[in-house]
Amino acid sequence: MSRVTVFGAGSWGTTLGLVLHDNAHDVVFWEYDREQVEAVARDRENRKFLPGIPIPDDVAITNEFAGSAAGSAAVVFAVPSHTVREVARNARNEIPDDALVVNVSKGIENETLARMSEVLSEELGRSDARGVASLVGPSHAEEVSRHLPTTVVAAALDQEVAIAVRDLFMTEYLRVYTNTDLVGVELAVSLKNVIAIAAGICDGLGYGDNTKGALLTRGLAEITRLGVALGGRPETFAGLSGMGDLITTCISKHSRNRHVGEEIARGKTLAQILDEMVMVAEGVKTTKSAALRGQGPEGGDPRADGAGTEAGDDRRAALARQPAAGTPAETRRKSPRDVVLPHPRGGHSACQGRGAVLDCDQSGRSAVRLAH
Ligand SMILES: NC(=O)c1ccc[n+]([C@@H]2O[C@H](COP(=O)([O-])OP(=O)(O)OC[C@H]3O[C@@H](n4cnc5c(N)ncnc54)[C@H](O)[C@@H]3O)[C@@H](O)[C@H]2O)c1
Repeated sequence: MSRVTVFGAGSWGTTLGLVLHDNAHDVVFWEYDREQVEAVARDRENRKFLPGIPIPDDVAITNEFAGSAAGSAAVVFAVPSHTVREVARNARNEIPDDALVVNVSKGIENETLARMSEVLSEELGRSDARGVASLVGPSHAEEVSRHLPTTVVAAALDQEVAIAVRDLFMTEYLRVYTNTDLVGVELAVSLKNVIAIAAGICDGLGYGDNTKGALLTRGLAEITRLGVALGGRPETFAGLSGMGDLITTCISKHSRNRHVGEEIARGKTLAQILDEMVMVAEGVKTTKSAALRGQGPEGGDPRADGAGTEAGDDRRAALARQPAAGTPAETRRKSPRDVVLPHPRGGHSACQGRGAVLDCDQSGRSAVRLAH
C-alpha cells in the first residue's frame, strides 16, 4: 500500500480515488471547494459530482495544500484543465520529488496552447515531462464508479513510468494499457471534445446515424491530421485515446460536451448553457486552443514558429486577435477545417445558437464554431 493524493474531488477525481482505494492505496483528496470538503466528509458521499457512490471512512479529504501530499508516492491532478496550472503551482512545495505525477484532465491551455503534462512539468519544476504521465481514455466516471468494464491508457514518454501508472490503477473493472506517445494521447483526448460538441449539434438538429457516422469518421481524420502535425503518432488516434474516446463521448448520454452541442442546436446561447451546468465541459475552451493550433505553421503549432521567443509570442498574440465566431460570416475566413453541417430543412429556425457555436450562411449551411 502507498499513499496517493488526488487533487480535485469532482466526478472523475472521486472515481479514481475510489479505484485507488480498491487497490488498497491510502487515498487523500485535496478539493478546491471548502463546502464540498465539508459535505463529502460528513456524508461520505460526493452528492454534487458523484451521487450514490459511498466513500469509505478511511479516505481523507482536505481543502488545505499544506501537508496534502506529504509522503505520497503518487499525485493525481483531476481538476478542470484550465485550473491545473494554478493548482500545481500551489501544490508544488507539498509534492515529494520522487512522486509519480499523473494528469487525468483533458484539455489544451488557452493562453499557452500547452498540453497538461507540459503545464505540470513547468509548474512542478520537472525539467521535462519524463516523470509526468497522463491517464486518459474512454471512461465516464458514472460508469467506472459502478465498476462497469472500462479501458484507459497510461501514457508517458518513459515506458517505465507508464507501467508504474498502469500498476497503480489496474483493477478487474479498469484495464489500463500503456503508450509512450504522450503527445498524441493528450492531443487525441482533448481534441475529440470539439467533435463531441459537433455530435451534440447533430443530435439537437435531429440528424440521424448516417450524419453521426460521417461526423465521427471525418472528425477523427481531422483531429488526427492536427495531432500528427503537432507530433503525435497516427496510430494513437486509431486507438483507445483517439477513436475509442471519440466514440464514447459522441454517443454517450453522460457526455457534457455532447450535451453542450445539443443545447446549442435547440437554440440556447453558450453562456446560458454553461451557466446551467454543474460540471465542466472542456471542449468549449479546447475549441479555441484547437483553432489557434490549427492556424499555426503546417496546420500546426503556433509555438513552433519561434517557440519561447518574442517572435513566437507575437505570432500567438496575432493569432489570438483574429476574428472569432460571432463576427459576420462574410468577414470570417472559411477554413477547410470547419466542420460543416447542412441545415436539415434549409431554413434558419434551428440556428438560434448563432454567434455561439452554430453559424448559418445564406445557403443554410451551418459551420460549427465557438465564440471565444
Ligand atoms: N467526469 C469524467 O467522467 C471524466 C473522465 C475522464 C476525464 N475527465 C477529466 O477530468 C477533469 C476533471 O473533470 P470532472 O469530471 O471530475 O469535473 P467535475 O465537473 O465533475 O468537477 C469539477 C471539479 O473542479 C473543482 N473546481 C472548480 N473550480 C476550480 C478551481 N478554480 N480550481 C480547482 N478546482 C476547481 C470543483 O470543485 C470540482 O471538484 C477534466 O479535465 C475532465 O476532462 C473527466
